[in-house]
Amino acid sequence: MTVVGPFGLSVRDQALEADVQAGLAAVEEGLLEATKSGVPFITDAAQHLVRAGGKRFRPLLVMLAAQFGDPHAPGIVPSAVVVELTHLATLYHDDVMDEAEVRRGVASANARWGNSLAVLTGDFLFARASHTLADLGPEAVRIQAEAFERLVTGQILETAGPRDGRAPVEHYLDVIAGKTGSLIAVAGRFGAMMSGADEATVDILTQYGERLGTAFQLADDVLDIASDSTESGKTPGTDLREGVPTLPVLHLRALAASDAATDEDRALAALLDQDLTDDARHAEALAGLRAHAALRQARRDTIRYAEEARATLAPLPDCAAKAALQELCDAVVHRAG
Ligand code: IPE
Ligand code: IPE
Ligand code: MG
Ligand code: MG
Repeated sequence: MTVVGPFGLSVRDQALEADVQAGLAAVEEGLLEATKSGVPFITDAAQHLVRAGGKRFRPLLVMLAAQFGDPHAPGIVPSAVVVELTHLATLYHDDVMDEAEVRRGVASANARWGNSLAVLTGDFLFARASHTLADLGPEAVRIQAEAFERLVTGQILETAGPRDGRAPVEHYLDVIAGKTGSLIAVAGRFGAMMSGADEATVDILTQYGERLGTAFQLADDVLDIASDSTESGKTPGTDLREGVPTLPVLHLRALAASDAATDEDRALAALLDQDLTDDARHAEALAGLRAHAALRQARRDTIRYAEEARATLAPLPDCAAKAALQELCDAVVHRAG
């Protein structure tokens, strides 16, 4: 048994292990190649987060999904590069929106070079992703365009807040499916599609990616509260500081408004409604949520979504790749960063 990929998946099949390792190595080369510019400063800024690491979760999913067809088909690695470059570009933009100072354990691009250069470098990365995507044909371009529209819509909805009487939890689920589920679904879809897998398999892996992506974002939102920055490479409590209500906060608010609420629940909910850019208040809110049942409730929801993702895989033939995709559902939920 060998451990591969960012989550230490236990792969028992040598061919699968070799394919995934070789695929991920080729993606690394592709990312460095795609982020080179004739202007040295642009190369530095574009490669800043590539070199800082990251889990490469989306490329891993492409490689595993590609096992259901020909795992050496030529479109697989470039499609993984496109998905990771798109993800990377959104991180540059997201850190501007969230005023985040740390990403992948290093200074965010906005902290280092300011918002304008961070936004423009994100745009540069989108341009490079489009360039690679063009070689994969019009269907791939359309799939990516639709997902990107959903991703941006998710980010816009998060920024705008619930509208038209949409309940807060429903709004939140719309947001995370859009901003995160969409691109992770593309990772599953491209892997299967580029390998030449049949249409039913492509659909299953798309659906799996969508659900896994939702679980992945739920876990990210729990980690924003529960983890420390050495594990996540980000600053804990960023969502709280920015006033982005994630599921633990929504659960707490619902509880505080119910008949079952204790004085402590109401006090914490009132604290969460205040301006949490104040350091002392922020620390108190973070500590309160870490100890609260609302966080455990959000963890249980995360596990439920991951189990739904796992159930999607049922019709696929039993094989080492399917086992790895099943294991990925646990890994996403129980990850530390
Ligand atoms: C962070 O994604 C943004 C989300 C959609 C949650 P990742 O957790 O995949 O970030 P990296 O690529 O490992 O840095
Ligand atoms: C990131 O969402 C989603 C995208 C980048 C599209 P978050 O803002 O929750 O992610 P982190 O926690 O900063 O990685
Ligand atoms: Mg963010
Ligand atoms: Mg954000």
